[in-house]
Amino acid sequence: MSRKKQPLKTGEKVLFGVAGAFVAFAVIGFVAIEIVASRSEKPLFEIKTHAELTPLGHKGELLFRKRGCTECHRALRNGTNVGGRGSDLDGEGSRRSLDWIYAFLRHPEKTYGAPTLDHGAPPKAASWVAELPEEELRAIATFLSELKAEQGSTVAPLPPEANSPFLRFMSRVMAPDWWKQKYRNVLEEMQGKEQEK
Ligand code: HEC
Repeated sequence: MSRKKQPLKTGEKVLFGVAGAFVAFAVIGFVAIEIVASRSEKPLFEIKTHAELTPLGHKGELLFRKRGCTECHRALRNGTNVGGRGSDLDGEGSRRSLDWIYAFLRHPEKTYGAPTLDHGAPPKAASWVAELPEEELRAIATFLSELKAEQGSTVAPLPPEANSPFLRFMSRVMAPDWWKQKYRNVLEEMQGKEQEK
């Protein structure tokens, strides 16, 4: 019994060719990125958050994980981002003071300035946080206040230093009035400071 090999049809050639090209590009791209990444001094993604933990901060870091804050939050590569609003706590110490963080953990609803979702009185899901012993909350608050973000990080309070006339124009002209009344325009404030220099 002999079966003759059938030659490929044109459509099949095109199909296999396209699929092959995709694979080839993926391999070339992967290799290229690996080569670039391994050669360059700079990391592929710059990390713009950092932490210098004091002994009390270290204690707080352990508690942060042990007590289960990481079920909703993320800090120093531990935990989750799924919590939504406020879930990424890297850089928290550049946004909030130690006193604010402690006050929030103890009295979330009074401190937050907006309705809270999970922190607060029972039956909110993180109501247990405010009940933690004094020394644990102090340690955790200290830990969070030691998480810093450099300017330009997505979690920093200020945008990158780069002077962008386009962004300034857009934020001045395109932003609706209600928005301007409700929020501070940090771009304008930065420009003001630069002119004073
Ligand atoms: C069930 C989920 C959940 C758990 C558990 C949880 N949090 Fe939160 N956290 C939130 C949410 C949601 C917010 C935003 C405020 C709100 O709606 O409650 C928040 C806000 C915060 C903020 C304020 C962030 C900011 O600057 O606006 C801090 C600080 C914080 N959490 C620390 C902690 C610590 C420390 C623990 C553990 C002891 C913890 N959280 C456990 C969900 C959670």
